[in-house]
Amino acid sequence: MADRVEIFEVGPRDGLQNEKRDIPVADKIALVDCLSRAGFDRIECASFVSPKWVPQMAGSAEVLAGISRAKGVRYAALTPNMRGFEDAVKAGADEVAIFGSASEGFSKANINASIAESLERFAPVARAAMEEGLPVRGYISCVTDCPYDGATPPGAVARVAAALREMGCYEISLGDTIGQATPESIASMLDAVLEELPAARLAGHYHDTAGRALDNIEVSLDRGLRVFDAAVGGLGGCPYAPGAAGNVATEAVHDRLVTLGYETGLDREVLVAAAEMARAMRPVRGAGS
Ligand code: HMG
Ligand code: MG
Repeated sequence: MADRVEIFEVGPRDGLQNEKRDIPVADKIALVDCLSRAGFDRIECASFVSPKWVPQMAGSAEVLAGISRAKGVRYAALTPNMRGFEDAVKAGADEVAIFGSASEGFSKANINASIAESLERFAPVARAAMEEGLPVRGYISCVTDCPYDGATPPGAVARVAAALREMGCYEISLGDTIGQATPESIASMLDAVLEELPAARLAGHYHDTAGRALDNIEVSLDRGLRVFDAAVGGLGGCPYAPGAAGNVATEAVHDRLVTLGYETGLDREVLVAAAEMARAMRPVRGAGS
């Protein structure tokens, strides 16, 4: 039997958060409902951040309330602080994510905190999630390159990964936020992080700005990673990472994995339908980034 690789769908969150146009909640719900039929285990569809910082995610509670939950799918939400965590619990998120950075410049720009301050802020969120019985995922942004600070030393990523592991994150997603990583820089970064956590607790989260995300996934597969984040239709970008293009497209990751002999458990026809829907929601590619 083929080795299984999971694609963690982040389109409804990472894909849409950067859109300037106010996307109706009903359209977001329709996209999540379509994705729920594709066979994902986890779909990130909400973000309980300040609406002043990311206006597009303001309707996250309505999205979680309106979707038709498919059996076996976990619907995930970003929670930067206790306020966000409490809102996510009220809205019925099945898992939450805290999101830090390996570079100081991006940490400040994205969440208005130094790395050390952000870790202090995340600790009670992780504790509360575990008390609530909710899985907590950790993200690390700028794992190879930062739009403010330049190249990120691999050791800085490993240090944040160790801190998130100590807080109880079940998985750590490694973000090439601005899509500038190369297979070589990903390999060096992973070699450092793998000193702290096994590959089974890591995920690759690669944006495709320079068109290298699939190659970066391949080098990560060689290092044993079996979970990759992607956004259907290649939606995405981060409002606080100028120049960041979309996440690598789910359907492209699926196709590459199948070509390499892996199994994803996803229905390609549903992915294509969801990708069309996603693209229709995003008439101007790269808007705002
Ligand atoms: P701050 O301004 O330092 O926080 O922002 P504050 O505590 O001073 O609060 C400021 C205002 O926000 C207050 O309202 C709070 O009530 C409100 P005011 O009194 O001015 O009316 N507020 C909130 N409102 C709703 N929900 C909350 C919340 N918290 C405070 N949870 C903060 C700090 C973290 C809140 C802010 O910087 C923020 O929301 N940042 C989020 C930025 C973001 O969402 N970026 C995109 C996601 S990360 C990403 O895309 C990368 C990733 O994909 C991986 C990769 O690619 O690298 C994950
Ligand atoms: Mg991202």
